[in-house]
Amino acid sequence: MRAKIIGTGSYLPPKIVTNNDLAKTVETSDEWIRERTGIEERRVTDENTATSDLAVEAAKKALSAARLSPEEIDLIIVCTCTPDMLFPSTACILQDKLGIKNAAAFDLSAACSGFNFGLAVASGLIENGAYKNILLVGADTLTKYLDWTDRGTCILFGDGAGAVVLTATDKEEGVLRSYLKAEGLFGKYLVMPGGGSRDPEAKNGRQIRMAGKEVFKFAVRVLEASVEKILEIAKLTPADIDLLIPHQANIRIIDHVAKKMGLSKEKVYVNLQKYGNTSAASIPIALDEALKEGRIKSGDLIVLSGFGAGLTYGANIIQW
Ligand code: UT7
Repeated sequence: MRAKIIGTGSYLPPKIVTNNDLAKTVETSDEWIRERTGIEERRVTDENTATSDLAVEAAKKALSAARLSPEEIDLIIVCTCTPDMLFPSTACILQDKLGIKNAAAFDLSAACSGFNFGLAVASGLIENGAYKNILLVGADTLTKYLDWTDRGTCILFGDGAGAVVLTATDKEEGVLRSYLKAEGLFGKYLVMPGGGSRDPEAKNGRQIRMAGKEVFKFAVRVLEASVEKILEIAKLTPADIDLLIPHQANIRIIDHVAKKMGLSKEKVYVNLQKYGNTSAASIPIALDEALKEGRIKSGDLIVLSGFGAGLTYGANIIQW
């Protein structure tokens, strides 16, 4: 038994913040941000919108594309590091909003690596026969946790949600292999310290703190390593990849890996110029857009690969 994606959907909040908008409040420029990251603009939620509000829109589109009714979903996984609240989980809130009755629901926390981790877990649960139809969502609203005076972080992130519906298939297609890894000793390089049980009143702040250079070095190393590893596990080579969908964090990280792997621009999907780094949403949004732009056809080999806080990283290889 394998798990196959039969529907995708994505949702971005309407408010656009451009690099020039940011340059009005912090010492930066459109030119610097484009050159050092590739980002041109990002989407930002308003104060009344939470992660589940984005997730529900993406999920509705994925369900409709999959031609499944809410009753047919038997598990919901929301990958997020910005849940609506500590509990109930955003997955349970989403379940209620979608009117899904016959399902289990839980959140998965692996920050920007969330969707790759979620896809590995969801496909494993389908492969062992525990569930048939799974709604898997990556959704984050990291802009709510930015220090808008820190030019090293506030330029990078945006909000969004992406969703897929997975179903069981007995054909040799869908998610073929998964590879997940964490290096907790580097966790200190990307942290949101306050708000958890160590500091419930968030005396240490509720804003993202990042050692940008350290995360950059890590990202370059592990993005390449995770693609190499997943190809090795699947007994494939870079030449077999039809499309690489990397985590959309920084164009320099993506270009470096594409060059090392000998992948041409046509074989690497990039949309970070429009949305910045949307954390767990970045890969499912990119997957949805790549599909709609006709960049993916039946039988294609797609590699999803990313990294994030933890520090974590991982990859999945899909036969479409
Ligand atoms: O999902 C994981 C999320 N995190 C990431 O993916 C982040 C990975 N890291 C990065 O993408 C990059 O490290 C950044 C984009 C954050 C920074 O780029 P960089 O090329 O590593 O710059 P840097 O930190 O080495 O800074 C170079 C200079 C510094 O000035 P000095 O010390 O040389 O005078 C910074 O203060 O650029 C300055 N700088 C800026 N200047 C204009 C840093 N941020 C900005 C800015 N605008 N926004």
